[in-house]
Amino acid sequence: MHPMLNIAIRAARNAGNVIARAFEHPDKIEAVQKGNNDIVTNIDKEAETAIIETIKKSYPDHGFVGEEFGQQGSAESDYLWIIDPLDGTTNFVKGIPHFSVSIALKVKGKIEHAVVYDPMRNELFAASRGQGAQLNGRRIRTSNMKELSGVLLATGFPHRSKHHTEAYLNIFGALFVHSTDIRRSGSAALDLAYVAAGRHDGFWEIALKPWDTAAGILLVKEAGGLITDFIGNDNVEKTGNIVAGGPKVVQNMLKEMRPHLTESLSR
Ligand code: IPD
Ligand code: CA
Ligand code: CA
Repeated sequence: MHPMLNIAIRAARNAGNVIARAFEHPDKIEAVQKGNNDIVTNIDKEAETAIIETIKKSYPDHGFVGEEFGQQGSAESDYLWIIDPLDGTTNFVKGIPHFSVSIALKVKGKIEHAVVYDPMRNELFAASRGQGAQLNGRRIRTSNMKELSGVLLATGFPHRSKHHTEAYLNIFGALFVHSTDIRRSGSAALDLAYVAAGRHDGFWEIALKPWDTAAGILLVKEAGGLITDFIGNDNVEKTGNIVAGGPKVVQNMLKEMRPHLTESLSR
């Protein structure tokens, strides 16, 4: 295993321990509203601190961008760690045991290593570019479904950008009638990890942030899947709009989505 992936795993497990311990003591969780339908807790911050401290011990000159503390460390470094210390904060605060730690390392602009860790189930999804994706050390692959009939999809609702509601529901309807069913789990990073593991056949969401998707994107690609924006291009990072799944499922999802895209979702 690449030493940098090893450190990413160590950091994710350290953050996972902070989160799992806090989950058992909800009285110690302090939640505040940080934006529109957006909460942050002391635990999100403690977890991000644990991750950055762990990585800095081995790589003091690297750069970091985390959801809670933004840019840190060297801005010039070729190495940039992209961190969501707690993906699924709403679940966490509500006592729903489904959330994750997401850590990706970009080297000269390319995602090279990725970890998504579910501390409640002790499931660790990891990938290095060109080396495939693993769940707890075992190789995982996206499902080989082709048509939408029979697929289980996952999604996230645009709860922070409700101006997309109508378009979103039109897309939902178009995909729902063709698929078996649709899940909304509350952790986009885990949704992508589940796509990589073939548990979900496909996933889509509007306006995600780089820390929600960076690790999941590499997991899905290394598991043999395809990642695109809503018009089939590679602009996920810029738009935040993501479609993920086995290549055929993604093509079929895009075909069903196309008639319902507004101008702003077609960029
Ligand atoms: C959120 C989760 C959720 C998705 C939201 C994300 P957070 O991340 O991934 O599933 O629907 O858009 O922002 O705020 O819990 O880190
Ligand atoms: Ca997130
Ligand atoms: Ca988060």
